[in-house]
Formats: sequence, structure tokens, C-alpha cells
Amino acid sequence: MNRFFPAVALLLALVAPSRGADAVFAAFEGDTYGDWTAEGTAFGKGPARGALPDQMTVGGFLGKGLVNSYLDADKSKGALTSLEFKIAHDHIAFLIGGGKKPGELGIELLIDGKPQRSATGADSEELTWQSWDVKELKGKTARLRIFDRADGGWGHILVDEITFCDEPKRSKVAVGRLETYRKSAEYYRETHRPQFHFTPEINWMNDPNGLVYSDGEYHLFYQHNPHANEWGHMSWGHAVSKDLVSWEHLPIALHDEYGTMAFSGSAVADERNTSGLGTKEKPPLIAIYTGHGHGKQTQDIASSLDRGRTWTKFRGNPVLDIGEAEFRDPKVFWHKPSERWVMVVSLAAKKRVQFYASADLKKWTYLSDFGPAGVAAKPNWECPDLFELPVVGEAGKSRWVLKADMGSGSVAGGSGGEYFTGVFDGKTFAADSKESQWVDYGRDFYAPVSWDNVPAKDGRRIWLGWMNNWETCLNPTHPWRSAMSVPREVTLRRIGEKLRLCQVPVRELETLRGKPEEIGETLLKDATKAIASRGRQFELLLKLDPGTARHVGVRALKGEGEETVIGYDVAAKKMYVDRTKSGDVGFHKAFAGVHSGPLEPDSDGLVALRILIDASSVEVFGNRGETAITDLVFPEATSDRLELFASGGQAKIISCRVFPLKSIWKVGAEK
Ligand code: FRU
Repeated sequence: MNRFFPAVALLLALVAPSRGADAVFAAFEGDTYGDWTAEGTAFGKGPARGALPDQMTVGGFLGKGLVNSYLDADKSKGALTSLEFKIAHDHIAFLIGGGKKPGELGIELLIDGKPQRSATGADSEELTWQSWDVKELKGKTARLRIFDRADGGWGHILVDEITFCDEPKRSKVAVGRLETYRKSAEYYRETHRPQFHFTPEINWMNDPNGLVYSDGEYHLFYQHNPHANEWGHMSWGHAVSKDLVSWEHLPIALHDEYGTMAFSGSAVADERNTSGLGTKEKPPLIAIYTGHGHGKQTQDIASSLDRGRTWTKFRGNPVLDIGEAEFRDPKVFWHKPSERWVMVVSLAAKKRVQFYASADLKKWTYLSDFGPAGVAAKPNWECPDLFELPVVGEAGKSRWVLKADMGSGSVAGGSGGEYFTGVFDGKTFAADSKESQWVDYGRDFYAPVSWDNVPAKDGRRIWLGWMNNWETCLNPTHPWRSAMSVPREVTLRRIGEKLRLCQVPVRELETLRGKPEEIGETLLKDATKAIASRGRQFELLLKLDPGTARHVGVRALKGEGEETVIGYDVAAKKMYVDRTKSGDVGFHKAFAGVHSGPLEPDSDGLVALRILIDASSVEVFGNRGETAITDLVFPEATSDRLELFASGGQAKIISCRVFPLKSIWKVGAEK
């Protein structure tokens, strides 16, 4: 595309408008704003060259310059107004990013000083195209004004490449970049890239969404920003797996469009076509998600008749609107005893969840509320799940588990989840105790949800979570950000006096195991024992007799000055992950730390640790999985050694098996 300086573009727009040819009105490539008038302090003397000091990476603009009102961070305010021009094209398009505050931040089209069109950012530092249809204003004289009347978080606006055109411009979903990346030698081979965990090919991911088994496939949708490597433009990314081990990437299922983002939710196989959105012969998959936009959050649905490959948003959306700004993350399941759909959904800011019922997924009736309960200090509650589990070893006994997550204030700091056991009678949830239990004692296991519709003959409850923490989420990975945990089987067991939710990696992952290194009974007294295997993808099965030691365990991802310690604190009866020296810990002040969870030795006095290590994560499961710790780490590629240790006394390694794990990502010629 031709790029013009503003004055030339202005001239062109006034003098020679020709249908079909785009005319760039302002590219913001010069040192000054040219004939635009700046007021206030937000815009400075001229265009910025990308990000300003302390700003996250700014991307998506064209050339070298752009308008960026992050001067003096979010505080500054001001306006930038163009000269007059005559509207001669059908559309005005521009790249826009920054905060989403209609009326406070954005660009507007003024005729006789009155705004006729206005656009704002999307709480993202990635600029994307927006276009106004201005056919009805053709021939009129207008000005453009870029304005920043906001302060506080996201109180800035980014604009570039204002273009007069006859076709609207839309941002391509980073397609160019993805295709180039797919061909590169780096594809799925970056230092921090997990090899047996699910990660998106490029760009940002958060919560798992829409987990449903159907037609031989486990679907995994996820919160995704198709445009950038940080949160924004929330859409549902999509992948499928036949075995919960390897994943096939599919096109984006639900887009951020018409001012409404597709926030978290669930999916069901509507096998009886209760929704009427399919047919008896071709029953639909239905996604139930939160529509976030226009000042509120509503529950919306979409249907697919082609095994989730393409989706149609329901014309009657929203299907549940109570006028709340923080009402999200519906998890829907078929409640057999009452023969209807049940939804658990969070009133996030009120720290409550609500239950609704429906015969057809389209009309929902309020049933009841639960909460606030559990951890008092949390700021919000989101991403609930609700399911029934048999109590292992207690014939005929079952209990319901209600799980919800807090954005901060969790056990290891930042975001995390808690759960209650109790009874759900189809209407109300009655908890066994007002006190909750932690889902995971690490910092990086958030928003887990379980698969719906797993065949009865399998019978497992399987979930996975987002391996990240909102507080430290901008971690050093590129061109993607975030992984999912491994799929975990969850069970309920009575351990001590309590019913505990136990998590272990699904058995299918054992297919990735290579030949193990076996270390037989070993006494360690203030000593270490090197493990011969080297690498960054391992499963370790460790059985320990803690003896008189203070600490016993394994140091993994060990290299020059780096190690991640996975241990057992004998006196405190706690397992822990110490990532203070794990590698890059400096990108956020809350990242380095030791995270621990209670773990009683088993009835034989021994402690079992099952550890999964995958380049940039450790997942540790104590005994039968009653205690789990999930932590991210960012070591150098050369930190690939393992060793056993005992300190402060003597401990016995009863057994240690170290399995190298294969990659699930085929690259280059393997593809
Ligand atoms: C949790 C969450 C959800 C919301 C989604 C938006 O991580 O805040 O409550 O639906 O992320 O991306």
C-alpha cells in the first residue's frame, strides 16, 4: 500500500478522491503531527515510535510511528484534531489500540463540531483495524479527533494509518505471522516451549473453555487473543484430541465481534436436540459462553453441526441477561434426576455463584445462590465447576464438588482456586463445611474446568487448568503465552478426616514415557545423588522415607546457578516447590518464591511424589494426589540436570523412576 504523509494525503482526499483507491489520510510517520492540532499533554510533540517508557509491547501499527497517548503513563489527557476534509469514500478505516473506554478514549468523526462516529480501543496494546461506514455522510466536510479524556488503568489510546477507502478494513487473524512461524525452525522448539503440554501456536491464551467429549474427540477451547501475546480481543481458540495427549489445532471457534468478546464458558453435546438448533439426526454441540461488552456480561450460546469446526451465534442472544456487569463463566451440564440442563455461573464481584435450569439451553430459570463462602479475602469469584463424584472406597457413596477461583488472594499469592464438597439436589448446593480447601498449592493452576460428556463406560472426571497466574502472567515466552496443565483425573477420597479432591495426570500420558532410569534404595545423609538422565521433559516417581532429614527431594532443571527444588519438609509435613533460583525470575517481583502444601506421610510412613517437568513447568502430585503444586519456571535450555538430595539428616529413597517424556508436537519433517 502507498503510504503518504498527512499533508499529501489531505490534499489527495480533497482534490482527487477516486473510487477503489485507498487514500492514507494520516500515517504518523513524521517527527511532528504536521497540520494536526494537539491540545493537553497526552500526545506530546509528535508521533511515538512504538511503546513509550514502562508500556507493554505495542504492536500492529504500520511503519515506524503512531499516535500513542501513554505519555506520563495513563495519567495525561488531551486531543489531537485534524484539518477539515471532504468525505469522498464509503469508509474511514484506522488502526486502533489502547484502552476500551467509549467516549473517554478513541477517535471520532466531527461534522460541524458534533461527533458522528466514534471508536475506542479494546484494552490491548495491539492495534487492529476498525472501519466506519460513512456512505450517508459523503460530500460533507469533517474533521477527525483523537482524544484521551481518561486516566487510571488502560487510560491511553493508540491510533495509526487513518485511511479513506471504499471497502471496510478488518484485521486478519495474525495469519501472515502464523504461516511464517509455522515454517520456521523455532516452531514449538523455543527454550521455554512445553513439549507435552498444550500451548497455542502463537499469541495469548488464558482459561480452558467448552471442554466436551463428543464423537471420539476431546474438545479444548480456550480464551485466546488472536491478535497479540497479551490479554485482549477475547475469542475461543480451539483444538481437539483423540487421546488427551496430542492435540490438533483448529480455527478460532468464537470471535470477538460487534463489540462483544467471547469470555469463558462451557459446551455440551445436545444429543436430544433440546435446543432445536440441530436436528434429531444431526444434534448440535452448544457452547454456552459469556458475552462481554456494552457495559455488561450476559450468557450467550452458539451452535455447531459439524463437530465443532464452525459455529453460529444464536440470533436470540443473550439467553440470560440480569443486567450485571460481572456475571460470567457458565458451566452447564445435564442433571439426570431432574431431566434438565443446569448452569452454575458466577456473580464475580459479589463472590457468589448462581444456579439456573433450562429445558432447551435457551430459556433459563433461576434456582438459587451459593456464597460468599470459603476464603473471605478474595476480590472476586469466577470460573465455577460443579460435578458429582463417587467417594473412592466407600461403596454407594458420592458427593458433589463445587469449585470456583479467585483473581487474587489465593494460597500461594495471586490467583487460584478453592472447592467445597456437599450435596446438590438439582436446585441448591449445601456445603459440608463453610471452609473450603485449596485446589492446588502452587501459583500456576487457574480456572480448571472438567470435560462434559465423557462416556459412562470410561466414567472418569477429567479436568485441566490454565498454567499461569494473573499477577505474573506476562512471563517471558514468545510468540505464545501460557500453557494448559496436563489433563488430570480427579477423584474424591477420605484422607484423614476430610474428603479431599485428588488429582493425578491421566493414564494416557504414560504413552509418552521412554525407558526409565531406575534408582534403587538409597540412603542419603546430608548428601546428593546425581541422576544420569539429562533433559527437560521428565516424569519422576519418587517414594521416600523421610527419616531424620529436614528436607528430602529432587533438584531439577539444574544448571549454572539454576535449579528448581521439589522437596518434602519433614518437620512441617509439607511438600514444596522452590523456584527462587529456577532461572528467569526477575520479570515480576512476585514470581520468585517457595510454594508448599500439607502432605501427611501415608499409613506406611512413606511419602510418594509424582513430578512432571516440562521445560517451563513443574506439576507435583503428593501421595494419591490430595496435594498438588503447579508452578512455572523459566530456566536456560542448558539447565537439564537432575539430582536427589537429603539435608539436615538422613532420608531413604525407597525407589525413584525417571521417565524421559516424548514431545507431542511434530515439527519440520515430522509434520
Ligand atoms: C478468568 C477470567 C474469566 C473471564 C475470562 C476473560 O481467568 O477472568 O472470569 O471469563 O478470564 O478472559
